[in-house]
Amino acid sequence: MEVQWAGVDPPRLGPPHTAAGLIFTIVLGLWSSQALEMSVGKIPFLEAVNGSTVMLPCTYASCIGIKNLYFSWQFNDNGTMQKVCDSVISSEGVVPVVNIYRERVEFVGKNDHNNISILLWNITFEDDGYYTCFGRNPKEKGKNHSAVFHLIVVDELRVVDNTLATIIASCVGGGIALLMGFMLLKNFTLFVLAKLEEKNKECLVTSSGIDNTENGLSGSKADSKPTPKKK
Ligand SMILES: *[C@@H]1O[C@H](CO)[C@@H](O)[C@H](O)[C@H]1NC(C)=O
Ligand SMILES: *[C@@H]1O[C@H](CO)[C@@H](O)[C@H](O)[C@H]1NC(C)=O
Ligand SMILES: *[C@@H]1O[C@H](CO)[C@@H](O)[C@H](O)[C@H]1NC(C)=O
Ligand SMILES: *[C@@H]1O[C@H](CO)[C@@H](O)[C@H](O)[C@H]1NC(C)=O
Ligand SMILES: *[C@@H]1O[C@H](CO)[C@@H](O)[C@H](O)[C@H]1NC(C)=O
Repeated sequence: MEVQWAGVDPPRLGPPHTAAGLIFTIVLGLWSSQALEMSVGKIPFLEAVNGSTVMLPCTYASCIGIKNLYFSWQFNDNGTMQKVCDSVISSEGVVPVVNIYRERVEFVGKNDHNNISILLWNITFEDDGYYTCFGRNPKEKGKNHSAVFHLIVVDELRVVDNTLATIIASCVGGGIALLMGFMLLKNFTLFVLAKLEEKNKECLVTSSGIDNTENGLSGSKADSKPTPKKK
């Protein structure tokens, strides 16, 4: 009886362990989804002509909510991060007073639906580069979060067309090359497969030959073998 109980006990201990693991996983999942998230949208780059006015999009999201969220936009000028603007958002829905450190910059997000986008007026070639949208929520013990947006300043639309044409041409060319490569590969694979099959057939033929001699033709072989012996 005692032996039986000892055998039963471990499975009883099992489920709580699994449950603990599950809870741990859920807590971890919740914790990671609670963290602040900065987003510059699905397309994190923009190609624009010099002289035009562009918007650098950014929004933040946090499940635990924000309090005194510090945010900034930084421009990566040849390796050194230049502050474009920054501010502290005391709570959601409050329009913050934003410090602006760069020319032709306007804060247009107004923290409307967590929108902290900025507008860049009359862009020049010096504005070309990477812009980091940075956020830090004190509720998260000073963890840093950021997203990067790439602004590409081009001379005229013609350049855009050229790049587009190049892209299309290289895509088509690449596609054709890929197709040819695929067909070559396919032919090669078929060739190898055929070779392998040939080999296999050889193997099968030889093995079936052995089989035949051992089974089906065993009688005749047995007949033929003894005959030389008889001679
Ligand atoms: C854009 O740059 C080109 C070349 O520097 C210049 O000729 C042109 O006037 C500029 N366009 C605008 C709108 O600033
Ligand atoms: C970037 O910095 C390096 C050295 O600091 C300098 O040689 C180079 O000219 C700079 N490039 C630009 C585009 O300013
Ligand atoms: C942008 O350029 C236009 C026309 O050159 C000018 O009127 C406007 O004041 C400029 N805006 C800024 C913010 O520099
Ligand atoms: C953020 O605000 C700007 C200016 O009002 C608007 O154009 C843009 O669509 C907004 N972005 C999002 C994601 O709501
Ligand atoms: C967060 O960024 C600030 C600069 O804005 C830096 O001083 C700090 O060390 C960073 N913290 C972490 C945890 O990376």
